[in-house]
Amino acid sequence: MAQNKLITLSEFILQRQAEFPYAKGELTRLLHHLGVAAKFVHKKVSKAGLVDILGSSGNTNVQGEDQKKLDAFAHLEFAEMMLASEECCGIASEESDGIICSDNPQAKGAGYVLCIDPLDGSSNIDVNVSVGTIFSIYRRISPRGQDPVLEDFLQSGARQVAAGYIIYGSSTMLVYTTGAGVYGFTLDPSIGEFCLSNLSMKTPKTGNIYSVNQGYFTRFPQGIKEYIKYCEEKDDATNRPYSLRYIGSLVADFHRNMLKGGIYLYPPTAANPNGKLRLLYECNPIAFLAEQSGGKASTGYERVLSIKPAEIHQRIPFVVGSAEMVTKAEEFLKMHPDKD
Ligand code: AHG
Ligand code: MN
Ligand code: MN
Repeated sequence: MAQNKLITLSEFILQRQAEFPYAKGELTRLLHHLGVAAKFVHKKVSKAGLVDILGSSGNTNVQGEDQKKLDAFAHLEFAEMMLASEECCGIASEESDGIICSDNPQAKGAGYVLCIDPLDGSSNIDVNVSVGTIFSIYRRISPRGQDPVLEDFLQSGARQVAAGYIIYGSSTMLVYTTGAGVYGFTLDPSIGEFCLSNLSMKTPKTGNIYSVNQGYFTRFPQGIKEYIKYCEEKDDATNRPYSLRYIGSLVADFHRNMLKGGIYLYPPTAANPNGKLRLLYECNPIAFLAEQSGGKASTGYERVLSIKPAEIHQRIPFVVGSAEMVTKAEEFLKMHPDKD
């Protein structure tokens, strides 16, 4: 039987290099190295019950969250691989207080910085539920040849040159954009290669899934409460009530909603008055992918990609998914302002 031509991630990004305005092969090499690090993390995740990688590392990260052993492993794997690629001069990671600069003179000359959530949804790892990695790449502002500076990382999301995620799910996939559509690659473990599986991923304009941690309902802003009630109401014309689906791994919840159509919300709560998700390495890359697939990403009030970050671990409220659903949630927030 004739086989479709198999295109690997490395081959694909090389082919696309010419479409990229500043292409000198640097970004191509960076993306290639991200794919290699992803395979190491995939290997560890896939045998998590067999090797001593489950549970807490005993540390808390800069945000006071329990750091799992796999958070620390994934952070080291991506950081080492990126800096070794000599195409990345610095990294901002969820698992590191400040920015990490390379002491390799070659890497100091690199033109890109990376923001990364090395392991997203890490509380799910001990119970064999999908986790992910989220990444975002910017061209540095500071001159090459020296350490990167904070301003290199505090650029608005609209300036991302590439972003994506790896989902370690029933299969492992790498999904990325460089601003010319969204592409998905599935890891074929038998040959150890990410192979093109989803050419030009598009999200439906609307859907019938909503994803939110409804346990925090009583502390949500009034507009979000009203929107959730709207999702629950019966209306045949708009396919309501919607189905509630919430995995607790942003990557997995977003991936499903992007393919099927739906909305993901992480509004402000009592514990997290600015929302929980981090702008640089969770919301911006996901927002870039959402827009590139035809969807929308908002704080509920403004476009995520237009925000100028103030610090690397900044949190924002996040509403992302099918464009019409996000717009509807924004309308509810406008219609039902909070009193204080
Ligand atoms: P991380 O594991 O990188 O800290 O991210 C977890 C995030 C996100 O993936 C998920 O959607 C959200 O936290 C879940 O939070 P709740 O448990 O509060 O719903
Ligand atoms: Mn995360
Ligand atoms: Mn994480």
